[in-house]
Amino acid sequence: MNKSHGLVGGMAIACLLVTAGCNSRADEEAAAPATTETAATSDAAATTGDAAAPAADVEFASLTGDPAAGEKVFANCVSCHSVEAGVNKVGPTLHGVVGRHSGEIADFNYSDANKNSGITWTPDELFVYLADPQAKIPGTKMIFPGIKDPQQRADLIAYLQTQS
Ligand code: HEC
Repeated sequence: MNKSHGLVGGMAIACLLVTAGCNSRADEEAAAPATTETAATSDAAATTGDAAAPAADVEFASLTGDPAAGEKVFANCVSCHSVEAGVNKVGPTLHGVVGRHSGEIADFNYSDANKNSGITWTPDELFVYLADPQAKIPGTKMIFPGIKDPQQRADLIAYLQTQS
């Protein structure tokens, strides 16, 4: 008898809790449709964005870089960069850049954005950076739109790896 009494008491408390929960949910419901609509709109925008830029989905790991082809892609960089050690132009030397920490060339006057980016130039980081440098390092003074073709970036990185 005592046992069932306790159970009834427990259920009464549970009901109170549920009621309280229901009340607050009813209050929130007024705002719910707007929230749902916003979510649906941003979903649609995300889908459109993906469709417009399929190349961005290509993973670096799925590509094999060809250093000889990459040397030709480096023509995009020579106006500002050399691969010779100690030779800085508008941009710092790219000798041994793969694996180097960003902003490490002592006698080059980097922007704070580049110097403080905290990036280590692994092949993966270079792959992302070289597609759109200003997206990866906002405020960089490397004024270059990027190389959009993922295979060309992989080739270029393979070439840079041979320059160390
Ligand atoms: C118009 C000149 C210009 C071109 C073209 C250019 N760069 Fe740069 N690059 C710079 C400058 C300037 C910096 C230094 C950025 C800063 O300090 O904000 C830089 C920085 C870099 C860095 C970071 C180096 C470090 O020590 O942190 C890498 C990597 C790099 N460039 C690679 C390339 C590659 C590869 C290409 C060719 C696809 C290229 N850049 C084309 C001017 C250029």
